[in-house]
This record gives sequence, C-alpha cells and structure tokens, in this order.
Amino acid sequence: MNRAEENLMAWLRDAHAMEEHDVTMLNSLASRTGDYPDVRARLEQHLLETRRQAEALEGCILRRGGDTSTLKDLAGKMIAFGQGMSGMFADDEIVKGAMASYAFEHMEVAAYRVLIVAAETAGDAHTKAVCERILKEELSMASDLEAHLPDLAREYLRRSQVRRSQAR
Ligand SMILES: [Fe+2]
Repeated sequence: MNRAEENLMAWLRDAHAMEEHDVTMLNSLASRTGDYPDVRARLEQHLLETRRQAEALEGCILRRGGDTSTLKDLAGKMIAFGQGMSGMFADDEIVKGAMASYAFEHMEVAAYRVLIVAAETAGDAHTKAVCERILKEELSMASDLEAHLPDLAREYLRRSQVRRSQAR
C-alpha cells in the first residue's frame, strides 16, 4: 500500500465509525421528537440512509482488502460516547440534540470532501463515486436541519412557556 492508499483506508474506517455513531445519535434524537412529526420523519429517513452509508463504506473497505473486525471495536467506543452524550440532554434535549446533529452533519460533509480527494488520488473510482453519493445525502440533511432549527426552537420555547404557565 502506498501512502495515499493507507490514508484512504484509515479515513474510510473513521468515516465508518462516524456513521455508526450517527446511527446512535439519530436513533436517540428521533425517539425524543414525538411532538415534532416533520423533524422526526426527516430524522428517520436519514437514519435509513445512514445505515446504508455505513454498509457502503464497509463494502469499500472490504473491496480494498481491509478487514472489518476492528471496525466493531471503534464503533462500540463511539456508541458508548453517544450514549454518554444523550444522558446529558435535559429538558431542552430536543433543541440541543438538533444542534449537535446539525454540527455532526457538517463534520460528515467535511469528511467526505476529503475522502473524495483521497479516493481520486489512490485511483479508486468506485470509492470516489460512493463518497460523492453519500456527500449529497449529508448536504441535504444538513440543509434540512438548518431549515428546521428555527421552527424547532420556536415550538420548543412556546411549549415550555405553556408548561410553565400550567405549573403555576
Ligand atoms: Fe452520514
């Protein structure tokens, strides 16, 4: 393996762990968004996409001769981290979760922009095409979250005001 190929393999593994982590985050956030059906539907749609992305990345790793045994360890650590994070969410968990998700999608966008260049440099057209397809899904999710955030915040604030008035 030359240097470009080594980097590509390492970054594919990182991206795979990132998507596994996103599955945990999306699952946890979707389960808390019962009161916000539009947001929940979009999160569930991206959850399906994200599972497919993780599988596609695993396919790229295997096709390049990598093995996936170490992937599980890393994914396990990321999941533990995700659970720890979801424990932090309090009453405003939905707003913080949506903010975290918005930031995470942008990290994914950055990762795929780098992976596309790495695949191109290593001469792997298939991996490049996979990463370009995933990038489109991440950009779409990031832009939808951006569009939903203000409404979500407004709705959360309205509901918490109503709850406060009722509690008095
Ligand atoms: Fe993703």
